[in-house]
Parts: sequence; structure tokens; C-alpha cells
Amino acid sequence: MTRPILHKLSAGEEIRNIYEEYRNRGLRYAGMYILTKPVLLVFEPELIKNIFTRDFQYFTDHGSYLNEKVDPLSGQLFNMKGLKWKNLRAKLTPTFTSGKMKMMFQTLVDCSYELINVMDKVSRKNKALDIKDIVARFTIDIIGSCAFGIECNSLKNPNSEFRNYGKKVFEVKGFQAIKTMLAFTSPQILQFFNIPVNGEDVTNFFLNVVEETVNYRESNNIGRKDFMHLLIQLKNNIKIEEEQNDNLKQMNGGAGFETSSTTLTFCFYELATNPDVQDKLRQEITHVLDKYDGKLTYEAIMEMTYMDKCVYETLRKYPPVFFLTRQCNTPYKVPESDLTIENGTMVIIPIFGIQRDPEYYPNPDKFDPERFSPGNKAKRHAFTWLPFGEGPRECIALRFGLLQVKVALVALLKTYKYTLNSRTKLPLLFDPRAFALAVEGNVWLNSEKLTK
Ligand code: HEM
Repeated sequence: MTRPILHKLSAGEEIRNIYEEYRNRGLRYAGMYILTKPVLLVFEPELIKNIFTRDFQYFTDHGSYLNEKVDPLSGQLFNMKGLKWKNLRAKLTPTFTSGKMKMMFQTLVDCSYELINVMDKVSRKNKALDIKDIVARFTIDIIGSCAFGIECNSLKNPNSEFRNYGKKVFEVKGFQAIKTMLAFTSPQILQFFNIPVNGEDVTNFFLNVVEETVNYRESNNIGRKDFMHLLIQLKNNIKIEEEQNDNLKQMNGGAGFETSSTTLTFCFYELATNPDVQDKLRQEITHVLDKYDGKLTYEAIMEMTYMDKCVYETLRKYPPVFFLTRQCNTPYKVPESDLTIENGTMVIIPIFGIQRDPEYYPNPDKFDPERFSPGNKAKRHAFTWLPFGEGPRECIALRFGLLQVKVALVALLKTYKYTLNSRTKLPLLFDPRAFALAVEGNVWLNSEKLTK
């Protein structure tokens, strides 16, 4: 497993190769070392289900790096452990219910208007568009708008400060690559030497934005329909022993920035290469919008069932978080086996491998949304599709992530048709330096405005 550090192969592909090799030998799990750290790779869906749900109490933590003193951004929900995680997760859960999503929906739609403006500009110039860049700017505007309540305008201004710091959180170059690997394999080394994983400039930027926003809103009595508002209410209603920032951090350093834009980039790549799927999806969008007098509402999005299938299939082929982790906290006897997972062992679930396994998904490299028809779904074990994880530790913002992707799809597909531009390097490669699954280089598309 040194190739990802040497930037030869993405960690996702490396883990997929290991999965295929061992799964082909019929194994349910396999042990290996990452540098000096022993880890257990688990392949069998039923065993994964037990680890994530029934026997969750043995595997409550992600086992990731946490050192709030020197690296305040690491103090986000994802990295938290035990009771501290449990309490914060319980406090934050009400922020992400479907009721709250409905409330925030218009803020998402407002961000998509700028997306349409950008498209109109590009098409007037008759130039190819870099979809990876456009959707990255869109999702950063959304996080800025919904989590921080500020307009960051990265769509209007590609070099906005907010976007640059957002990108930096995910930059894994040089010393950062070593720190990221250590954060995963030996967090105690970083803790001992008090080395932060996130750079000081990045940390200060985000903490300042949060602090200034909270102060401004509280002193001017401003309420907006976004996460920040919900979290300020939370802070004031419940006596929280920590300083105010602690509750707000997990919105930025976490999975939020990259995952949704990665999903959108891959989705557009597939739609551009599968014109029949693109047409069918556009037909559904037009049909449903007509029913709602052209207005994109929460209810309208929920009616777009083919869109659901397309997004699910994208997340199957390209899970942005390509493996999941759990750290064992009490010796665990694996059912129907003589293996006991020792305290402290890291468990890895190689979802990229599982989601491309022909046993569950025949012809796995084919993009086929019909895999997610109710009939086909019922034929598979539910734990063979895990892009958001599962159980009490699954992505807390699952609904929000999906909505973000769907709103962008509606905005971009309803009036434009896309084909792949010859500048896109094929076959598409994964960026070996990226922390999450990401395209290496750009995805260039041609767009054609549709007249009704
Ligand atoms: C398509 C978009 C997204 C994908 C695919 C995704 C995926 C994931 C995955 C795989 C995990 C780990 C789950 C596990 O270990 O079982 C996770 C956790 C998390 N995600 Fe997401 N995510 C997305 C969007 C977001 C967004 C937009 C936010 C913030 C607004 C967010 C915030 C979080 C947080 C805070 C956690 C940690 C939860 C905990 O430890 O209790 N995610 N996400």
C-alpha cells in the first residue's frame, strides 16, 4: 500500500485491487498492514451489516485523527469518539431531518440560478465547459450559503477566498500527503508531536468566518433559513459546555465540499457518454416541472424517481468516499469464524471494490440506472451499496448531499444538452493525490441550448 503515497495509483483503486484479489479466493475478510498498522478488510455484506448496525457498540469510532488543541478543524463530528461523538451527533441530528431540508430547499434553488447564468455565458461564447470546475464552485456556494449563511460567489468569481480555502482542506501534496497517511495509520505520532493536519491559515479562515457570522447575526437579530441559523438556535436553547465554534465546525472540514461536486462531475461524464439516459432524465425533469408550473419545489424533486436511479448509479460506480473505517474498541468475535478482532484494530470496508463486484452488479463498469429499480434492488444484499456508510455513524447530511446534487442536475439539464468534448482525456483516470475519489484533470463538455 505504498503506491498511493508515491502518487502512482489512487488509494481507492489500490483497495479495489486488493478486494478483487482476496474476494476471488472466496474470503470473507483479510488482514494486512498499512505501514506498521494492522488492519482488517471486511468483504462480506452480512458481516459488514453486523459491524455497522447490530454490533455497533464494538465499532463506534472512525479511528481518524483528532487533536483539537493544535488542529481545531479536526474536532469535527467525523473524527469524534465515544460519548463526545454520541452527544454531538444527537444534538445535530434534528438539523438534518426532511422537515429542515424542506425549509432550506429555497436557499439551494437560489444558488442554482447563478449556475444557469454561468451556463448561459458559456454557451453564448460557444466554448467547451469544464464541468468539474463549475459544479465545484456551485457546491462551495451552497455550503457557504447554507452552512455559513454568506454569499461566497465562487460561481461569479472563480477565485473567491472561500473556494480557495475550501480546496486547501483537500489538498494532499508533499508533506501534507505524509501527514494524511500518518493521521490514518498513526494518529498518536501527530498527537505526540502536536502536528496539525490542517494548515493554520485554513483553520483560522474557517473559524473566523463562523465566529463573525454568529456575532453579526446575534447582535443584529438576523434569522435565515440555513444550518447556521439552526445551529445558533441550538447553541442558545441547550446549554453547551464547549465554546460556540465547536458545534459549527463539522460543516466545513468534513465531507461536505468535495463529495457532492465529485458526484456531479462523474454523473455529467456518464450522462454525456450515455445520451439515452440523459434524454430520459431530461424528459422526467420537464414532465415534473410542467406539473408544478415550472417551479422547482421540494415535492417536485421527490417525484423525480429516474433522477434517483441516476444519482444512485453514479454513487455506485464512483463512491466519493471509497472506503469506510471503524475502529474496534472491545475484542469482537466474528460470527461463524474463529477470528477475534482485537481492541484498537482498524476495520476497512472497501466499498469501491464491493460496488464494482460483478457478483452484485453484473457488467460493473456499465452505467445502468435500472440497477436501482425496486425489483433489481430487492435482489441484492442492501449492504452492497454504501456511498453514505450505514448505521448510527452514516453520513449525517445524506439527504442534504442528495438534494444538492439533484438541484444542480435540474438546473443544468432542463435547458441544455451535453456531449463529451474531445479535450477530455480518456479513459477517465482517478487523481492519485486526492483524498476522495476524484477525476484526474478536467471533464470538458459541449453544451447545446434547447429551444422548447
Ligand atoms: C454526495 C455527498 C456525500 C457523500 C457521498 C458523503 C459520504 C459520507 C460518508 C461515506 C461518511 C462516513 C459514513 C460511515 O462511516 O458510515 C460521511 C460522514 C459524514 N458526512 Fe457526509 N457525504 C456527503 C455529503 C455531506 C455533506 C454535504 C455534509 C455536510 C453538510 C456531510 C457531513 C458529514 C459528517 C459531519 C459526517 C460524520 C458523521 C459521524 O461521524 O457521525 N456529508 N459522509
